[in-house]
Amino acid sequence: MVASVRLGKFLASAGVASRRAAEELIRAGRVTIAGVAVTDPARDVSEGDPVAVDGATVSVPVGRVVYAVNKPVGVVSTARDPQGRPTIVSLAPAGVRLYPIGRLDIDTTGLILLTNDGDLAHRLTHPRFEVPKAYRAVVSRPPVRERALRALREGVELDDGRTSPARVRRVAADALEITIREGRKRQVRRMCEAVGHPVRRLERVGFGPLELGSLREGACRELTPEEVSALRAAAGG
Ligand code: URA
Repeated sequence: MVASVRLGKFLASAGVASRRAAEELIRAGRVTIAGVAVTDPARDVSEGDPVAVDGATVSVPVGRVVYAVNKPVGVVSTARDPQGRPTIVSLAPAGVRLYPIGRLDIDTTGLILLTNDGDLAHRLTHPRFEVPKAYRAVVSRPPVRERALRALREGVELDDGRTSPARVRRVAADALEITIREGRKRQVRRMCEAVGHPVRRLERVGFGPLELGSLREGACRELTPEEVSALRAAAGG
């Protein structure tokens, strides 16, 4: 998490002015946070706070971070929700403006990544890089037979076209592990439905080189530099 910093220091690190000159700007009432003039240079400010000098917005480059979150059911995986439902971003530390890398359905649980690194997010979701995403699906109408597994592996016909080959493993009579490299809307649900086994529960357990592991539902952790490097490598460096 990026800690908050004093307003004077924030302006200096944003390149607005030297530290002392920035403090003078603040005392002169020329600096606002969320439209309200602030005259105390020691006032704390966090990344994401709308700071302006003489009405012009100031933004400061912050360190890039990636978080893993275990999304619960009922949480939307967008940064904001017009319907006021809880968002995945609200499960991460405040103070950094984060964006989800891709989406999970509201009723899907499991691994979702959040970052302030727009380039990494773009690459990880771009079909060109074909980053594998692994899911565990509990399905209806067990047992899942060999024919259904084969169809899922080879590709099934959906209304938006045939799916690419998937890695599929039956882990119980009613449970599958499916790894796909595409990211179409409700793809795993539609694939399972197409072979006669509607999904009852869906959890994402892997994203590229990362695994959900023992991260508790609703919990969030920052990725290590090694994990971020592995993700970058998966997205073409
Ligand atoms: N496939 C789905 O059907 N739903 C998800 O949330 C992710 C993949």
